[in-house]
Amino acid sequence: MTPADSPIEATLIPGDGIGPEITDAVLEALDALDAPIAWDRQVAGVAAIERCGDPLPEITLASIRRTRLALKGPLTTPIGGGYRSVNVALRNALELYANVRPARTVVPGGRFDDIDLVLVRENLGGLYGGSDQFFALDGDPHGIAVSTGINTRSGCRRIARFAFEYAVRAGRRKVTLVHKANTMKAISGLFLETAREVAEDYAGRLEVDDRIVDACAMQLVLDPWRFDVIVTTNLFGDILSEEIAGLVGGLGFAPAANIGERGAIFEAVHGSAPDIAGTGRANPVALLLATALMLEHVGHPELAGRLRAGIDVTLNADKVRTPDIGGSASTSEFARALARRLRARS
Ligand code: NAI
Ligand code: MG
Repeated sequence: MTPADSPIEATLIPGDGIGPEITDAVLEALDALDAPIAWDRQVAGVAAIERCGDPLPEITLASIRRTRLALKGPLTTPIGGGYRSVNVALRNALELYANVRPARTVVPGGRFDDIDLVLVRENLGGLYGGSDQFFALDGDPHGIAVSTGINTRSGCRRIARFAFEYAVRAGRRKVTLVHKANTMKAISGLFLETAREVAEDYAGRLEVDDRIVDACAMQLVLDPWRFDVIVTTNLFGDILSEEIAGLVGGLGFAPAANIGERGAIFEAVHGSAPDIAGTGRANPVALLLATALMLEHVGHPELAGRLRAGIDVTLNADKVRTPDIGGSASTSEFARALARRLRARS
């Protein structure tokens, strides 16, 4: 049986705010592509609090544990009420240690053209994986703030190995190790040392270099084309991935994958956009690009390629664009135009 014959089971979390609208656009596109995906629809976030009082119901987690694959719309983190971030909880529960953020120019003519780079960020440790607390000083309970970060050699090895394997599989040419080992000798030094060791296994297959994070941030705006795949630790990856999303026009075009040994969750980088939810103005492209990453992940690169090509033609030849990128199309008009293009090619 070929993969095309057996549907792949995946968990679908439409999400909050604009989530359901952009998820509908994805479902319409996958239908037009005849993509062999069987969805197990679940809730999380505010939708789940409303339904069962828990932003991350056990049944949702159990579904992802079973399918090991999910597409997730944005989730609103309720302010107050002591709710933890569902996104972080999912990452930790499923040990999704790699965050992959590809950035490609989708609409030419922006500040930078022909951008095509991928940031791989360690998702669980570093300065977001340690403790963060206050101690009293001179009667001020917040007189001292102390953060600790944790990187392990095995964690550094795992993320470096992931980045190099990804680079080889995706046919990339170079991996840049980004660090601050000159001042953070332990936490960042361990990452650099370990990643360099891993790099030795790829000699002759991939070019490798390294950059101090601050210099990297500057070079990314001066000459982003010198980079190809970047691998770095949690905090630096968080910051640089937003910078890199900015190079290709921001949130509307930024997809992300969270990947571990036991599962993978694909999502748009943007949030639930409550200010425009329900108005039909949401841009579904970031979630569609996340869907393309998911199709690649499950062994359907040809469907991913067709989806990306369809998005390209719809935006740039047909000029069907949502208001956030200067157009006047609604979410459903964009979805319909894309589906028409995808059907025409099949
Ligand atoms: P946001 O990304 O939702 O919105 C920021 C601005 O960008 C808004 O003006 C919004 O209208 C616009 N925008 C975002 N996505 C858009 C799209 N697809 N099409 C058109 N315009 C779009 O960030 P914000 O307002 O800080 O957060 C809103 C909620 O989303 C919060 O509850 C936050 O916790 C949550 N959030 C969830 C994320 C996730 O589930 N991965 C990521 C980031 C935020
Ligand atoms: Mg961030």
